Amino acid sequence: MEGTAQHQVVIITGATGSMGAVATRVKAAEGYRVIMACRNVKKAESLRQQILTEQPDADIVVMPLELSSPSSIRAFAQMLEGQKVTELFCNAGVKAHRYTLTEDGIEMDFATNYLGNRLLTNLLLPLMPIGAHIVIMVSLTTKFAHLTADWQQMRPKDFGQLSTYASSKLALMYYAIGLAKHHPELHINVADPGVVDSNMINMDRWYDRLADIFFRPFIKTPEQGVYPALQALKTDKSLCYFVGKKENPIPQRFVNNPLVEKLWKE
Ligand SMILES: NC(=O)c1ccc[n+]([C@@H]2O[C@H](COP(=O)([O-])OP(=O)(O)OC[C@H]3O[C@@H](n4cnc5c(N)ncnc54)[C@H](OP(=O)(O)O)[C@@H]3O)[C@@H](O)[C@H]2O)c1
Repeated sequence: MEGTAQHQVVIITGATGSMGAVATRVKAAEGYRVIMACRNVKKAESLRQQILTEQPDADIVVMPLELSSPSSIRAFAQMLEGQKVTELFCNAGVKAHRYTLTEDGIEMDFATNYLGNRLLTNLLLPLMPIGAHIVIMVSLTTKFAHLTADWQQMRPKDFGQLSTYASSKLALMYYAIGLAKHHPELHINVADPGVVDSNMINMDRWYDRLADIFFRPFIKTPEQGVYPALQALKTDKSLCYFVGKKENPIPQRFVNNPLVEKLWKE
């Protein structure tokens, strides 16, 4: 991308979350105009104020975005019409504790993690100049995820906190691969944060308190978790899987999976 960071705009979804907040601080400090795309505007505004006390020159804007709602996504994209977006960090994600449907009757993990990110990215593409970056946050759970083309037929009894989350993230990764194949003019990559100390790892079960004592102290901090994504926002490559300090091509078994094209046409 040409130009200094002052002329660059990054959209960070889920900027109120553990890793999103770190990314917002880092990109603001680098001189970017940061658009915090958040469903909880009050929480986002309070974080913005906090960052402004640390970095008075920061250029940060809060905009409402509910990723499980197509109308909210469309309204968000409409508000940006005519602006240039140089980086998009699709960071927001959810791991629902139980089977929940959105207003449109779609399972919450798939509606948010897959369809929401997909619609948002598609609507923002016309605002992204050649060489712009898109980073999609995936998960190591994609490695054992099971996904079929008929995922929309999912029934309540098919739901599992981890398995459904993993499948929705795999669908998102297939979307990212399709996007990179169809848009060679952009840098499109995925980032895997590992297991990170955030709300996301809460299972809403009796053993959470034990996990907090014995497990949380040993997992990655949000700063460590978001590092690969921040690296991916700078790369001049595409179709790479950023994890830890490594940057590898996305494995061929994903890139060449027939579901990539099937989902692309969905
Ligand atoms: N933590 C891990 O171990 C881990 C591992 C692998 C991948 N990831 C991925 O990393 C990303 C960041 O997670 P995190 O660990 O930082 O979790 P987090 O602290 O729970 O942050 C999640 C963010 O997503 C936002 N969000 C959730 N549902 C949304 C919706 N429907 N519309 C708009 N925003 C929504 C949340 O908003 P609110 O603040 O309003 O709740 C929050 O800002 C996620 O994509 C997650 O799947 C995390």
